[in-house]
Amino acid sequence: MPCMPGIGKKSGCDEMNDVAIVGIGCTPVGEPWNKSLREIAVESTWAAMNDAGVNEVDGLVVGNMSSGNFVDQESLGSLIADYAGLGNITAFKVEGACGSGGVAFRTGVMAVASGMHDVVCVTGVEKMTDVVGDSATKILANASDREYEAVHGVTFVGLNAMVMRRYMHDYNARREDICSIPVNSHKNAVHNKNAMFRREISLDSVINSPMVADPLSLMECAPICDGAASIILTTRERAKEFTDTPIIVKGSAVKVDTIGVHDRKNVTSMTATVEAAKEAYNMAKLTPKDMDTAELHDAFSIMGVIGLEDLGFVRHGKGAHFAAEGQIGIGGKLPCCTYGGLKARGHPVGATGVYQILELTKNLRGEGVVDAQNGIAQNIGGTGSTVSVTILGRDI
Ligand code: COA
Repeated sequence: MPCMPGIGKKSGCDEMNDVAIVGIGCTPVGEPWNKSLREIAVESTWAAMNDAGVNEVDGLVVGNMSSGNFVDQESLGSLIADYAGLGNITAFKVEGACGSGGVAFRTGVMAVASGMHDVVCVTGVEKMTDVVGDSATKILANASDREYEAVHGVTFVGLNAMVMRRYMHDYNARREDICSIPVNSHKNAVHNKNAMFRREISLDSVINSPMVADPLSLMECAPICDGAASIILTTRERAKEFTDTPIIVKGSAVKVDTIGVHDRKNVTSMTATVEAAKEAYNMAKLTPKDMDTAELHDAFSIMGVIGLEDLGFVRHGKGAHFAAEGQIGIGGKLPCCTYGGLKARGHPVGATGVYQILELTKNLRGEGVVDAQNGIAQNIGGTGSTVSVTILGRDI
């Protein structure tokens, strides 16, 4: 049994299982006032189990950023296993801010790769819209450095606005080019029945939408919303028991950086993305040129631009131009955010990383909006303090 090169070597193990995705499921992203966190989590868990044709799993990893603050509920491993009827299995929650979904996926991959678990469900869930006023913004800011950033009133929109201002200064980048990121995401969301905003927006409407934190406008920011997404993982060897189209986890990495943006030498590149991408590409024995599609963490327009650069698709300073040329559109050189990305599908923070993997899986199975052999997903927590990079490919 071949080992996953990266994980196997690092852990000192010679033998690690290859890991495959055999089931996917999710709820529509939006503001489901009539459903609780547990209901959407169970709905997506059952949808993924149904897709895989399994009626039991031996592990559940929940990705969630802040259920204790958003809905006054913790202990999500037990809660979701209980209400999904999964019995006395291994179940727990992991957290990596807005990157919690990607961290949960990585945890599930480690569980199956190590051989400690056989069939694992990864469920990302967040219910953000049950709090009122500015509470969601305050809760999100808990993932920044509270003593040095949030305490002074800076929000995530504010931090990203500063990164964008610096980027525009360093690379003489045009705001209208950066704004083509949300235009692309909205265009792709039209075809996604699970997306929050299923409508196209023009470049002018992005540029002229209300300013939130200069230079970031409303239409450059992902919304506050609710959603849950789930993935079923098993070994490559067992995958064919469940599906004719298993999707292989070829590379998987999570890296961290300083929590405070002010402690970085360079704020226009995210070292955690660069390092995670390096490890994931090495593990997969693939390069950026082998990627047919990319799910970028476009929570803010500028994050999409920097993601293109940090994942190695273009040189630093060239991401905005690449997007503005239409290269990230469906039919372009590298279709990105093919189901609407964080901006238009929506960004229920702890669930986002799992939605990305689900969308990539659809494209790789041949039932999506692009026909891909290999694809990559990048999920960011904070302003790049925790980043996961996942490379998936067809089983060929
Ligand atoms: N994109 C498009 N439309 C949006 C939107 C968004 N991001 N956010 C809100 N809207 C729409 C709403 O649907 C609403 O439309 P309606 O009047 O037709 O119903 C309108 O704009 C006003 O919505 P409201 O909820 O009052 O917006 P807001 O001013 O409270 O919040 C933001 C807007 C951008 C500040 C908020 O969405 C936000 O903070 N986003 C960033 C979230 C974040 O930091 N996530 C983590 C990143 S890693």
